[in-house]
Amino acid sequence: MLSYLYALLFYTVVTFGQNIWDDDFQLSWPQKYTVKATRISLTSGIVENYKAWKTNELLRVDYNNGAVKSIVNFRQRIKYEIHPEFTKNASNVVKCQAMKLDQQFRRLSIGTVLPDTEDFEFVDFDPVNDKDTIQFYCQSSENGNDIRQTVWAEFENETEEWIPVRYQVKEYNEGLGFLSKHEIWDFFGFETDFDDAVFKIDDYGCGNEYTEHTMDSESVTQHLLFVDPENDKHVDHVFNAFKNKYDRNYEHNYEHATRRSIFQDKMRLIRSTNRKNLGYTLAVNQFADRTPKEMERYQGLWRRPEGKTGNIAFPYNDSHIKDIETVLPDEYDLRLLGYVSWIKNQEDCASCWTYGTIAAVEGAIARHNGGKILSLSNQALIDCAWPYGAAGCKGGTDTAAYKWMMDYGLPTEEEYGSYLNKDGFCHIKNMTVRFFIKGFTDVPPHNVGALKVALVNHGPLSVSVHVTEAFSLYSSGVFYDANCNETMLNHEMALVGYGTRNGDTFWILKNSWGPTWGIDGYMLISTRNNSCGVTTEPTYVTL
Ligand SMILES: *[C@@H]1O[C@H](CO)[C@@H](O)[C@H](O)[C@H]1NC(C)=O
Ligand SMILES: *[C@@H]1O[C@H](CO)[C@@H](O)[C@H](O)[C@H]1NC(C)=O
Ligand SMILES: *[C@@H]1O[C@H](CO)[C@@H](O)[C@H](O)[C@H]1NC(C)=O
Ligand SMILES: *[C@@H]1O[C@H](CO)[C@@H](O)[C@H](O)[C@H]1NC(C)=O
Ligand SMILES: *[C@@H]1O[C@H](CO)[C@@H](O)[C@H](O)[C@H]1NC(C)=O
Ligand SMILES: *[C@@H]1O[C@H](CO)[C@@H](O)[C@H](O)[C@H]1NC(C)=O
Repeated sequence: MLSYLYALLFYTVVTFGQNIWDDDFQLSWPQKYTVKATRISLTSGIVENYKAWKTNELLRVDYNNGAVKSIVNFRQRIKYEIHPEFTKNASNVVKCQAMKLDQQFRRLSIGTVLPDTEDFEFVDFDPVNDKDTIQFYCQSSENGNDIRQTVWAEFENETEEWIPVRYQVKEYNEGLGFLSKHEIWDFFGFETDFDDAVFKIDDYGCGNEYTEHTMDSESVTQHLLFVDPENDKHVDHVFNAFKNKYDRNYEHNYEHATRRSIFQDKMRLIRSTNRKNLGYTLAVNQFADRTPKEMERYQGLWRRPEGKTGNIAFPYNDSHIKDIETVLPDEYDLRLLGYVSWIKNQEDCASCWTYGTIAAVEGAIARHNGGKILSLSNQALIDCAWPYGAAGCKGGTDTAAYKWMMDYGLPTEEEYGSYLNKDGFCHIKNMTVRFFIKGFTDVPPHNVGALKVALVNHGPLSVSVHVTEAFSLYSSGVFYDANCNETMLNHEMALVGYGTRNGDTFWILKNSWGPTWGIDGYMLISTRNNSCGVTTEPTYVTL
């Protein structure tokens, strides 16, 4: 009844020549279309882009600007997966895998690019993305989950076709009402006319040999469509292995459902990233079931207050740096000189701000001692630096850490006591040995040459970086993430070296996430484009 009134209102306001609204608003998609989409998972923080083309019989989905393609012929029940592969001789070749779809795939409908509209009902006029969109809603229930889907679409009055603008899905655990999944898809570039040549596979060397496409066959693309019964069993299998390895016992079913959904998103990110041959890989690690909010506890860098800068000026000018650069080696690693202590683990105390700064002090002391490394106390900074603008396990700044060290001096970990992963009472006054610093120096930002010179002469340094979802799942290779923002610094690490690989220069960063993260606790990150902000705010200390 209400919808009828709205329909009438809409009819009067917009005044269509041909009136399709007489019965009701019924959402439906054309048989043939192409569309681009951005999918954001609010539960895992992961963002994905893709482009799709669909007809009655054919479907193509492109990821990573077409580097990875999936083409399905539903009538012949064949699926092609086309992706680049990085060969031993360091060149990218395009590989095509042709698969016969097994019985499972029958259940997949052709309409999987956009949600199946059958059960959606008109709700209201509700503009999104500056468009005159109409909202549709569908509520259903599956496997103990209450699934609430919303679609916003525009009506093209000339062609009488719906144009998708946004899709949202929320899954609540029934009974407890806990939100276990929340995704938003934004659609753009919707067209109903395109050249069928996009489905041609001639250029990809797909051949006539088919592998059987079964439940367990791994694929980057199979997870990215809407309805995917195939995917679920595989996820359960890998998720169980993860829970065993990382000793996870979720107390409630709703937590299990949420964690599983986050895990699935991260697995998808890992697979699609690794398939792109970007020169680095991601892997399931201790963060594979963590929400973006939880990830903050494994970081903890606050933005420096305005005007808080180093008290000792950077002693090199540009021409000086250029001169030194010409004699710098291609590779330099302070670990080999004994200036770097072992990999520590901040755990879920947001105390990263103590790790980069302490690594800088430990290194400076080792330089004085001919390479004898001492481990200094992170806990002392956590407990004591509050009056300097830090807040223990809630976070802090590098400037607060340095100013405190100038006034109080750092005790050794041995004397102060081991790391607690919690705030504690400050007992710095009782320490017999303390290491004071005279001050710290800001290296000029966005200057790779200056940072190399600083590293070789004064390193290790403390650097602030932007940790993204992919960053936290880093496993090997030279990392580079276009989603990093060089100003959104949220984590502090220690810069301990640099090197080159396949023409790409990289920094070597020491992290505080334990020795199982990354490459034995370290990360290689490209020097390109101030990747993740490494050159935005580097500092070193003077004893
Ligand atoms: C690298 O290997 C591919 C085949 O794997 C070959 O086609 C190509 O010519 C090789 N390139 C070089 C530079 O050897
Ligand atoms: C509907 O179509 C007419 C032409 O047929 C056009 O003038 C009008 O702007 C269109 N209205 C909307 C809301 O797109
Ligand atoms: C740069 O520094 C070098 C070495 O300290 C010095 O000789 C030179 O005069 C400086 N150049 C400028 C332009 O300040
Ligand atoms: C510090 O030392 C004093 C005297 O030796 C002692 O009474 C006090 O309990 C100590 N404080 C802490 C926090 O250990
Ligand atoms: C980086 O973040 C800042 C806000 O912190 C924003 O203004 C800027 O547009 C972002 N840059 C990119 C490239 O996303
Ligand atoms: C640097 O970033 C810009 C903007 O994100 C991008 O267009 C460019 O390709 C990047 N350059 C390199 C060398 O990656």
